[in-house]
Amino acid sequence: MILVTGGAGFIGANFVLGWLAHSDEAIINLDKLTYAGNRENLCSLGNDPRHVFVHGDINDLPLISGLLARYQPRAVVHFAAESHVDRSLHGPEDFVQTNIVGTFRLLEAARGYWQHLPAEAARRFRFLHVSTDEVYGSLAPDEAAFDENHRYRPNSPYSASKAASDHLVRAYHQSYGLPVLTSNCSNNYGPYQFPEKLIPLMIVNALAGKPLPVYGDGRQIRDWLYVEDHCAAIRRILEAGDPGETYNVGGWNEKPNLEIVHTLCALLDELCPRSDGKPYSEQITRVADRPGHDRRYAIDARKIARQLGWRPAETFATGIRKTVLWYLDNPDWISDVLSGAYRDWVDKNYGERDR
Ligand code: NAD
Ligand code: TYD
Repeated sequence: MILVTGGAGFIGANFVLGWLAHSDEAIINLDKLTYAGNRENLCSLGNDPRHVFVHGDINDLPLISGLLARYQPRAVVHFAAESHVDRSLHGPEDFVQTNIVGTFRLLEAARGYWQHLPAEAARRFRFLHVSTDEVYGSLAPDEAAFDENHRYRPNSPYSASKAASDHLVRAYHQSYGLPVLTSNCSNNYGPYQFPEKLIPLMIVNALAGKPLPVYGDGRQIRDWLYVEDHCAAIRRILEAGDPGETYNVGGWNEKPNLEIVHTLCALLDELCPRSDGKPYSEQITRVADRPGHDRRYAIDARKIARQLGWRPAETFATGIRKTVLWYLDNPDWISDVLSGAYRDWVDKNYGERDR
């Protein structure tokens, strides 16, 4: 079996569901169930015996060591993190605690477990660290896309904490020989994404008749990848990646934020028109920019294509349509996550922004 951390979050849940659809190998899913973790994301599994859910924190070293000793997984796939840049600006401490200290504790537990495995099991063991392209910082419009050798220059507490975790993972390979793999992926979108991130926030706000808050001039560029393509890349890296290597994962799909929002509005106009017949784009509102806002991310995903044969299966047009349809088909999921705590966050992040 494999141990997954953060498997009740957006990408982790998609990974768990995809894994169990592709294989019979069981998963232990360790998740703290922060605001971003949601057991409903996994409800389609029912009581599937291949899925063991453990409510716990990656900072809890005895808990993790106990899980490793008990279940003897052949791999750890590490998704658990605080993942939202805007929240990291309001409260960076949780990011340091989970992304840096938590990753360190997980590495320590994995090292202790791996060192005592029989030789063949130790040789086959993998620790796969799921990271982000944001560690590389911001690109100028004419700069080449990030490759695996791009210098690290993180700009937000989120990206700095992920960069620190990447360095720890690397160091555990260099210093102790732990067979680690790191993936640095671009912005994901798809089912189960919490509506604090751009795409689900715009869909949820549009349907609720609320403003669609575009930060600054809306010309910041992100490289978007459908979440199932990311999960397929992780499965491939786990299967065939070389220990100690990092792999950049991206969709070859750079788009300015404003274009994303207009695309979503057009899809909603088609699939769920406003009752007054007006276009959703009328709800677009410019708001004050995010401090330190990175202008552009772009991933050069040639290494993973060349060495592991992975390429995205979805285009942006197919992936974004599936995503909008998923949110339209799941109003109960949306209403469940729009809790009081979510409303407090919206007030904090958007309430004080100047229009
Ligand atoms: P998410 O915020 O949706 O989910 C994070 C999950 O981790 C939640 O289920 C949460 O409960 C859990 N968690 C948080 N702190 C924990 C702790 N201390 N112990 C145990 N569980 C804890 O995040 P996501 O978007 O699914 O991202 C998953 C990973 O992928 C993160 O490491 C993130 O940095 C990385 N990543 C995300 C994107 C993206 O676009 N979302 C892109 C590239 C990389
Ligand atoms: P986000 O989904 O938070 O991902 P990240 O900051 O990790 O790239 O934001 C994606 C882009 O959308 C980013 O440039 C910020 C912008 N954005 C808005 O313009 N308005 C919003 O309300 C949000 C949440 C994001």
